[in-house]
Amino acid sequence: MELKQGPQTTDEIIVNGVSFTHGDIYNVVDDFYTRIQGDVMLKVPFQSVHDWPEHIQRLTHFWWIRFGGKPYMFAEYNPVLKHFFAGFDGLFLSRWLQLFYETLCSHLNPDQIQLWKMVTERMGQSLSIRNEHFKEYYEQNKNQQD
Ligand code: HEM
Repeated sequence: MELKQGPQTTDEIIVNGVSFTHGDIYNVVDDFYTRIQGDVMLKVPFQSVHDWPEHIQRLTHFWWIRFGGKPYMFAEYNPVLKHFFAGFDGLFLSRWLQLFYETLCSHLNPDQIQLWKMVTERMGQSLSIRNEHFKEYYEQNKNQQD
């Protein structure tokens, strides 16, 4: 699927001295979510996704702006809430990171792989912490309503 808007495939962004083209990001994201759909463990929480091409566009945009690129579509992200309700936990996260790393290795050079792997590991830690905080908040408020 080609993006109808936004950067050209060859437009690039430099992150900590490492260059990624928009095409690199799209190829990784596209392949990753194809792998997710065939993964025994991860396909379960991802049943909430009904429009895969749209999800892939949103997530390509997410990584492009995360790496410092200019936003080019209207997209608001609310990862903590979405992940909590998707059942995010440590086991899912380990599998996610493993599959993501395998995908990176199929598309990118060693510098790109190392950098993107590090960024996902940090985001995974941050998501875990924020997920635990949200869980406490959610349980407290649920109990008040019971
Ligand atoms: C470092 C690891 C991860 C990163 C960086 C990441 C990133 C993201 C981002 C940015 C979104 C879009 C959120 C939005 O649209 O507001 C998303 C959606 C999603 N993630 Fe993750 N994720 C990670 C791990 C996981 C894991 C372990 C699971 C397993 C439960 C998971 C399940 C999902 C699902 C099901 C959605 C789609 C929700 C929906 O739109 O219905 N993610 N992820």
